[in-house]
Amino acid sequence: MSDRTERKGLTGYALLHNPRRNKGTAFTEAERRSHGLEGLLPPAIMTIDLQVARRHDEIAHLDDDLQKYLVLSDLQARNENLYYAVLMSDPATYMPLVYTPTVGEACQKFGHIFREARGVYLPITARGRLKELLSNWPEKDVRFIVVTDGERILGLGDLGAGGMGIPIGKLALYTACAGVPPQFCLPVVLDVGTNNQSRLDDPLYLGLRQQRVRGTEYGAFVDEFVDAVQQLHPKCCIQWEDFANINAVPILARYRDRTCTFNDDIQGTAGVALAGIFAALRITGQKLADQRFLFLGAGSAATGIAELISLAMAQEGMDIAAARQHNALFDISGLLVTSRTDLAEFQKPFVQDRPPISTFVEAIKALRPTGIIGVSTVPKLFTREVIEAMAAINERPIIFPYSNPTSRSECTAEEAYRWSGGRAVFASGSPFPPVEIAGRHFVPGQGNNVYIFPAMGMAVFATEAKRVTDEMFIVAAQAVAEQVTDDDLSMGLIYPPQSHILDASIHVAERIASYIFDHGLAGVPRPDDVGALIRACTYRPVYPE
Ligand code: NAI
Repeated sequence: MSDRTERKGLTGYALLHNPRRNKGTAFTEAERRSHGLEGLLPPAIMTIDLQVARRHDEIAHLDDDLQKYLVLSDLQARNENLYYAVLMSDPATYMPLVYTPTVGEACQKFGHIFREARGVYLPITARGRLKELLSNWPEKDVRFIVVTDGERILGLGDLGAGGMGIPIGKLALYTACAGVPPQFCLPVVLDVGTNNQSRLDDPLYLGLRQQRVRGTEYGAFVDEFVDAVQQLHPKCCIQWEDFANINAVPILARYRDRTCTFNDDIQGTAGVALAGIFAALRITGQKLADQRFLFLGAGSAATGIAELISLAMAQEGMDIAAARQHNALFDISGLLVTSRTDLAEFQKPFVQDRPPISTFVEAIKALRPTGIIGVSTVPKLFTREVIEAMAAINERPIIFPYSNPTSRSECTAEEAYRWSGGRAVFASGSPFPPVEIAGRHFVPGQGNNVYIFPAMGMAVFATEAKRVTDEMFIVAAQAVAEQVTDDDLSMGLIYPPQSHILDASIHVAERIASYIFDHGLAGVPRPDDVGALIRACTYRPVYPE
């Protein structure tokens, strides 16, 4: 419960079992006396730093990441401030445990490891009553919802209601990485069934046991959800997460101009890729408008990134149609050219008016891109020949194999550096360790969406923004890129270190918030000092007095 709705008189056993008020062994002697806690705790009194050290030690001694995830998840249910103090003490270590990759396994085993309920489950069988179900959540001022229907969880496919792990983990990062206060955040699953037979056959599966509902019934259900949120929480931003493409693209198109909403898989991904490009241009010393990109893959990731790059090029004065021509797509059937008849509407803006080309290397030779971006889901397609072709036409070729996880990456960092003679400007979707080649030390960057979405959330929260626009993602990308130091760039690192993610996010949030105020999108008056507003809104993991 937030301070506003808190029952101030909470004492004794109930206080110890309220995760927002609980301090565990950090309750002082005076608090123990006045709140009826004497005898309910061992006598020693700890500082929060010692409590963090204890959890850190416990987790460090576990071998299995899912066990670590469960220790953290239990802590979140028991003592929320301590949970965030642990996460924020070492984000680079804890992010992969509360979110990807570990959360993937947690979603797969959701029914088997289920403990405390968290968030709101909206089954399609409750159609007509979604407002009633949503109002069972104890918080009366929800500002941020992350919602999934569980159909495309990471690279793992349809996990049905098990997908709840994703909104829970993602919202933990909004708080841990950008300081969005946790009491304003709500994880939601829209349970429309699952087509995953092994889930349906599993006696411990926790979702509806039916095939997925599609079509108009699905659309009406999503509509009712959005309406209910708007009625109950008019300041709430809805972030769509891990929907299958067939639903993700139309859902975003339907609501983006009606309410405050965004899709991180589409827009956050594009933002982080653009941030990598802005930083890469600091290395090459070139202008964005002079770049030509060739994408391997033409799905939602590719077209989302290509569109945001085109918009950013247009901001530099280029005609938008011409800018899209600087972003060519190559998929399983070859280059996307005007003569192809198998293309979806969202791919058509990027078709090239030239004869078909069937191999990626030929496409590089014909189009002479300055950068290649891999979003194909297929490993090893950035072959030696591909990298050498890029190195032959560029002094500093931009090579971004973004397919996740690591096993799907289009090439490794070592391959990109080695085959380009150490000249590649490299970033990948999944992390790679540092590389030594011919006595030179390279630190590969990871294009992790965490550089963008928590900061976007904080800016929207602090300004009570009415909309989330693509231009806000361009601002976010610039703000991420400008924080990469010259030292980072000299080692090839084109993203800021994840160990300082809170500071980085607050800077990005301030830049986005300024844009929101400048463009009349804010729901609160512009303060004199936007940075001070962001800092004042930032959650810190300290115990309440
Ligand atoms: P998708 O399935 O919609 O698109 C895949 C595309 O690759 C299709 O156009 C397909 O024709 C093409 N493709 C498949 N095999 C190919 C081949 N042999 N040669 C050429 N093209 C081929 O997938 P989506 O959602 O666009 O995601 C793509 C990848 O991007 C995934 O691996 C995902 O993990 C990654 N991604 C990375 C992010 C990040 O690092 N921040 C964020 C979002 C996605």
